This record gives sequence, C-alpha cells and structure tokens, in this order.
Amino acid sequence: MSVLFDPFKIGSMQLKNRLMRSATTSAFSRPDGTIRPAIVELYSDLAKGGTGLIVKGHLYVLETGKAHEGMAGISDDKHISGLKEITKAVHEHNGKIVAQLNHAGINHKGDRAGPSEYKGDNWQSRALLENEIEEIIDAFGDAAERALQADFDGVQIHGAHGYLISQFLSKLVNTRDDQWGGSLNKRMNLLIRVYDEIRRRVGRVPLLLKLNSDDFSPNGFTIEDSIRVAQVMYEKGIDIIEISGGGIGRRQDLRSRAEHDDDTFSELAFAGHAARIRNHTGSAPMALVNGFRQQKTMQASIERGLVDVVSMSRPFIREPTLVKKLKEGQDEVQCIRCDKCLGEDVFGKVMLQCQLD
Ligand SMILES: Cc1cc2nc3c(=O)[nH]c(=O)nc-3n(C[C@H](O)[C@H](O)[C@H](O)COP(=O)(O)O)c2cc1C
Repeated sequence: MSVLFDPFKIGSMQLKNRLMRSATTSAFSRPDGTIRPAIVELYSDLAKGGTGLIVKGHLYVLETGKAHEGMAGISDDKHISGLKEITKAVHEHNGKIVAQLNHAGINHKGDRAGPSEYKGDNWQSRALLENEIEEIIDAFGDAAERALQADFDGVQIHGAHGYLISQFLSKLVNTRDDQWGGSLNKRMNLLIRVYDEIRRRVGRVPLLLKLNSDDFSPNGFTIEDSIRVAQVMYEKGIDIIEISGGGIGRRQDLRSRAEHDDDTFSELAFAGHAARIRNHTGSAPMALVNGFRQQKTMQASIERGLVDVVSMSRPFIREPTLVKKLKEGQDEVQCIRCDKCLGEDVFGKVMLQCQLD
C-alpha cells in the first residue's frame, strides 16, 4: 500500500492517512453566517470518502472580519449548532475535522481595517487601533472555544492568502512602527498573540497554521520571512504548518520563484519554497497545498521527505470521495483547475460545486 495511506499523528490527533482537504469555503452559509444543510452533506461526503483530515472552510471570528457573502461564522454562540451538525456527520464516518479561524482585515467589504492605511484599486483601508487589535485576539480565543463546543478535533489559524494575519506579516501592507509592525518580530506579534490566546483557552488541542511561503509581492512577505515564522511557531508548539502562498500585492510573474527545480514536483506551486522551509525546520510536521494532481507526485512528496501530509482543495470540489478513489488506484485527480468554481456568477451565489461539465 502507498505511503499516502500510512497513518500520521498531528499532536494528539491520529489521522488514518496523509491526505488532507484544505480549507475550502462553500460560500453558501446564510447571511447571518449559520450553516445550510447542503454544507453538512458536503462534509459528510468528504468523510465518507476516507479523507484523513478535513479543514472546514474559513470561519469569521468577528462580524467585521467577514471576507465575503456566504462565509460561515464562529463569532457568536448562534453559529455553534450548525457547525456541530458538520462535525457530527464527519465523526459518524470516522473522520477528523478542524475549524479554520479567520479575520479578513482589509478584505472586509465594509469598514476596511488592517495593520495600516493601504490603498486598494478603488478603496482605502484604515489602521486598526490598539484596543481593536486586542479585541481581535480575544475573538480568536472565543472562536477557538466555540470550535471545541462544536466538537471540532482542532483549530487551524489562517495565516495565509492576504487575510488579517498575513497582512500583519507583510511589510508591504504593515507599515506600523509600534509593537505590531516594523521588524519581522513585530510583524509576527499578532500571529504569536493569537496562537498564545488560543492555546491558553483550549490547552493541548491540535493547533494548526496555514502559512504563506511568499506573498509574491515585490516588497511583501518573503520566503526568508516564512522560514523564520515557521521556526518560531514550531518552537512555540504549533502542531503542523500547511504551506501555501499568495497575498496582497501579489504578482503572477513572481510565482515561479516558489517552484522546485526537480521535475518530480513540477505540478506543485510552492514545492521549492516548502523544501527551503523544511531545510530549516527538520522533521517538524508539515503539509503542502496547491497543485497536487498525480498520485505519483503525492507519493513522492512524502517518500522523499518534502512534506508529511498532502493537502488539496479544488480536486475535492470535483471529487469529494477522492481519497477512496486514489486508494482504489486512480492515478490522477479529475480537477483541471479551471477555477470556474470561483466564477463571479457562481461563488457565493450557489452551493460550491464543480462547474466543469
Ligand atoms: C472555492 C474555493 C474556496 C476556498 N476557500 C478557502 C478557505 O476558506 N480557506 C483557505 O485557507 N483557502 C481557501 N481556498 C484555497 C485552497 O484551500 C487552496 O489553498 C488552493 O485552492 C490551492 O490548492 P489546490 O490546488 O489543491 O486547489 C479556497 C479555494 C477555492 C477554489
């Protein structure tokens, strides 16, 4: 049997295989952030299909941190019962599921507030006040407690993709000169405080981090920054880091710097960067997302020590029972990454589904 189906432990959480469904929002929650039944069904299918670890699509920890219509919330106790239906469905099929906690920062469509004033295409953000930053840290802690009340097996901090924590990490977006900005240590302060707050509230529950390896902006968060952040977070006790990439100010032409020079990994967007991080963090548990298509690439990634866990998003939209199919010998995922699932008349308008047919 392929190494993909070897068990793996993240903190105290035992996974039955190395295949992870990366956080993927269905963008189909009710306007008040509560879950619709179709979303529960999707998670039930993912678990039925044998997925080793499922990360629930991002959940806003505060109303002011909501990123888009249809995003689910965990900012209020009213959100717990719907989330509990999801975890129940996953556990009934012997699966594991963690809650991804997020705050949109300057990507919130109303009052755009983040680390600093920042000019977007046709908008401008404002800088968060010190007491607002403290409220956000507290909200991450409250949200983690709600995640446990909803029976999640762990919590993932969203530190990637240009949302609030990755905005603070980026020197392009974060131009503060107080304890929250300036040196990398200070830009990292929000992530560290959120981590400490969640740990304080939930103890040794598995705590995961999705982290950019690079935000691909000329003056933003770099691979060197990412290596340092990963080292610090492992020292603090994070149980696994899922490596990703992309953020505010990203440029398509800079993306190739994250690729691996070994052809074995050519389909993976951030394999080169992941290898560099691993060189500095040794055997600390690591997952990688973006680009996995062929079973032989997934297998090689683990066999050759690039990562411990293979994470995918879009392939599971096309094939929620993908893991079962891979186990039965399917060589390749069906998803061709056309991104039609993110199309303007689809995303946030209908329940998440593959639009290829
Ligand atoms: C419809 C859709 C929703 C997504 N939602 C989230 C999310 O809630 N949180 C997150 O961290 N990433 C989200 N992503 C990004 C994916 O988790 C993943 O990082 C990205 O799609 C690359 O992986 P892939 O090549 O396996 O699709 C989303 C992607 C898609 C296509």
